[in-house]
Amino acid sequence: MAIPQSFLEELQARTDIVDLVSSYVALDKKGNRYWGLCPFHSEKTPSFSVVPEKQVCYCFGCHKGGGAVNFVMELESVGFVDAVAILAQRAGMEMPDTKDGQDTRKKRERLRILNKEAARYFHGNLSAPQAQNAVAYLNRRGLSKRTITNFGMGYAFDTWDGLIRAMQKKEYTKRELLDAGLAVESKTGTIYDRFRDRVMFPIIDVRGNVIGFGGRVLDDTTPKYLNSPDTLIYNKSKNLFALNLAKRTKADRLILTEGYMDTIALHQAGFDSAVASLGTSLTEDHARLLSHYTQEVVIAYDGDQAGIRAAQRAITILNRTGLQVRVLRMTGAKDPDEFIQKYGKDAFQKLLDASENQMEYRLLQLRNQYSFDEPSDRVAYLQDAAGMIARLPSPVEREIYGGRAAEAAGVERNTMLAEIERQRGKQGWKQKKQMERKALAPAIQAQPKERQLRERDIKSACAEEGIISLVMADPVLFNQIQELDVNDFSSSLWRKVYQEARNQWQETGAVHLTTLAQVLTPEEMSRLTGVLQKPQVLSEAEQAISDYSSLMQRQRIKREVTEDRDILSLRNRKKLEEP
Ligand code: GTP
Ligand code: MN
Repeated sequence: MAIPQSFLEELQARTDIVDLVSSYVALDKKGNRYWGLCPFHSEKTPSFSVVPEKQVCYCFGCHKGGGAVNFVMELESVGFVDAVAILAQRAGMEMPDTKDGQDTRKKRERLRILNKEAARYFHGNLSAPQAQNAVAYLNRRGLSKRTITNFGMGYAFDTWDGLIRAMQKKEYTKRELLDAGLAVESKTGTIYDRFRDRVMFPIIDVRGNVIGFGGRVLDDTTPKYLNSPDTLIYNKSKNLFALNLAKRTKADRLILTEGYMDTIALHQAGFDSAVASLGTSLTEDHARLLSHYTQEVVIAYDGDQAGIRAAQRAITILNRTGLQVRVLRMTGAKDPDEFIQKYGKDAFQKLLDASENQMEYRLLQLRNQYSFDEPSDRVAYLQDAAGMIARLPSPVEREIYGGRAAEAAGVERNTMLAEIERQRGKQGWKQKKQMERKALAPAIQAQPKERQLRERDIKSACAEEGIISLVMADPVLFNQIQELDVNDFSSSLWRKVYQEARNQWQETGAVHLTTLAQVLTPEEMSRLTGVLQKPQVLSEAEQAISDYSSLMQRQRIKREVTEDRDILSLRNRKKLEEP
């Protein structure tokens, strides 16, 4: 697991964080920093900053940050080693042969080829006589030959070991077939094909690797769909069906559907920007993945109650990633596939053009909650809608949606607008109050949000933070504080950073953020970066260090006295309790 220090150093030297970040985020230079919209949370004005001089990035909004490795870990949702591997590939460096890393990498590579071979096998099956029913089924579903080839669709024979035998001929082992999720082990230890008598949909990642499969029955038996389980190379919460094709679209928005067949039907009808989540509801990882390829997503889920609920959940998740969201409203068909079969592609294009942005969609949902028979319904709707609209930052948008909501409720436009402004005032007042409370409590404000990072001695922790920020900026300062005892640190985080950094300094004569990323959690790294990105005044460093250390030592004595007192009082109480 441990990657050699020398490798990490070279990787850090060859990676420019501005270069790296700007391949995901548009950056503007201001002074000695770059600014952009934070890729980790949704925002309209940039609070994500990159400091080339220190090779760190940090978001003032969500407080996430770190060096290049942390950026990749967060963005790609991978661990330290995988993030290093991604950066190494980018920098044109061979990953070092850590035994573990190499083994998993080889295993992954084998599983990828195995999946590809399996996809070829399933596709080839379609020309066999035993596949007659499957071919007839695909035809019945209106899929053209071209579509079938495009998506690499196939068929799993109605046997227990068709795939297994074919793959064993190619020297794949029982273990590998199980690891790929293509075979299942019975109680007696024999294995059999997971997919039998099903039409097969290969799942392909954005790099073009086959990573798993979905398989559908040819009739009404259940389960209707069977999907590959999560494996070393496949995670359903992080992959989207057909994104490998949709990422090349010229369309401005990606279309998000619930089903394989919906996405395939859309592509066949010329909507080449459709993707599907894979038998699971949309996750944050999906949203982040989408946001790498588009700024706007149209949700085209089923029109039933379950679909509407799922759409509402998806809106929230997509918004958090900063994506614009529209929602398609379909009537007369249960899903996009059926809609296109019934009404054709021009009708679907009309739906797309008329797709409502989220505010319209939410207002509509809200309106459906009230019957408007009673005047009190009207008032309730008016207030709820006004509350929703009041949160819109743009006055033009407030005006437009205010007008529509007024119309829907049958109230005067001006009444609605007045109510919106009233609620806006109220919300603004609340925010102001919150700001004031924050400003009044600097010590509490200094306390990190993450519970496990809370400090037990805020005063000392602030001094410790000061020391860390100085020695990280100029490690030569370590020479000056040799008398500082690690037990003077009250904060476990700053103690850990101090020890690690000092060891590195003593061993290599330098301190590298990348090496620290190996021993700190992402939360700890964010906290450290938050401190590092602040400007340091090194001219007064020596005086500052000595002030900080004496404060820490005084606080340590105070803490020990209090602890002693606590122990004493505990003992006394025990004595009293004893008969
Ligand atoms: P068709 O009936 O072939 O048109 O499929 P559909 O895509 O319209 O199916 P549906 O709306 O019922 O389901 C949407 C998606 O949920 C499917 O594409 C699958 O990914 C998933 N799904 C549906 N049924 C099952 C099931 O029985 N098991 C699992 N694991 N996933 C399912
Ligand atoms: Mn369907």
